[in-house]
Amino acid sequence: MTQPSTRRFLKFSGLILAGFILSACGKKADAPAPVPASAPDAASAAAAPPPPPAKVYVVGTDAAYAPFESQNEKGDIVGFDIDVVTAVAQKAGVEVKFINTPWEGIFNTLTQGDRDLVVSAVTITDERKQTMDFSTPYFDAYQLIAVKANSKVTKFADLKKLKVGVQNGTTGDEVVTKLQGKTSTNVKRFESTPIALKELEAGGVEAVVADNGVIVNYVANNAGSQFKIVSDKSFTPEQYGIAFKKGNTELQEKFNKGLADIKADGTYATIYKKYFGEAPAAAAASAPASAASQ
Ligand code: ARG
Repeated sequence: MTQPSTRRFLKFSGLILAGFILSACGKKADAPAPVPASAPDAASAAAAPPPPPAKVYVVGTDAAYAPFESQNEKGDIVGFDIDVVTAVAQKAGVEVKFINTPWEGIFNTLTQGDRDLVVSAVTITDERKQTMDFSTPYFDAYQLIAVKANSKVTKFADLKKLKVGVQNGTTGDEVVTKLQGKTSTNVKRFESTPIALKELEAGGVEAVVADNGVIVNYVANNAGSQFKIVSDKSFTPEQYGIAFKKGNTELQEKFNKGLADIKADGTYATIYKKYFGEAPAAAAASAPASAASQ
């Protein structure tokens, strides 16, 4: 397009936008539209612009929590949560990228905008709901106690005066802190659950309290550690949700819709079976807590 004709045109129309619309409507080329500067002719100026590159949502996950999230030999982040969020994203037509993120401070990454969502076997709690938003629940869970095979522990109350390992800031930490009291020095807080379990093996703690799925998985894969599992009905049922920055209802709704879709079309059940060997309870299409312990 030439300068003089553009100037003439601008004078004539007074509005760049109007110029674009007119030219898109097939007005002659002597009043070229300044917007699609590289368009070879008026016809292609009228064509739909190429879609903007898809936004990739960054997902934070503490990948030391098999079978929900862990790193395989190749360093890829894999697990139940990863499959669920990947399937949900596919339904929602968005892209996701998982980034291994330490549990400590994982929720701050949402507030700071470093992560768009967190999937990390996160229990939905009233306290957390004050600072972040959650998807609808996607997994039922509860606490379990791991002890050495020769331990005398038979119930949660037996841990009152024992050295108990937990992952810092988890619901396991919460229940043990409540049992022993805030000032107890016997609650040993570790940065990851596997480290707490290693400490149990080494004899540094006498029990570990953590989510059922993770305890069961660890014991199944570390026969040499000689642990036994103690369950206690007094633990309140928990549910996992995907966490979003507080107020990000747009993303929350996208993922809720996707979650509903994968529950409805059987994808959720397939993923569940892959990790837990049986179908989830029909009602919520979320896992019956007992399923994780087989
Ligand atoms: N469900 C527990 C909680 O929300 C523990 C989750 C820990 N997750 C992890 N990937 N380390 O507190």
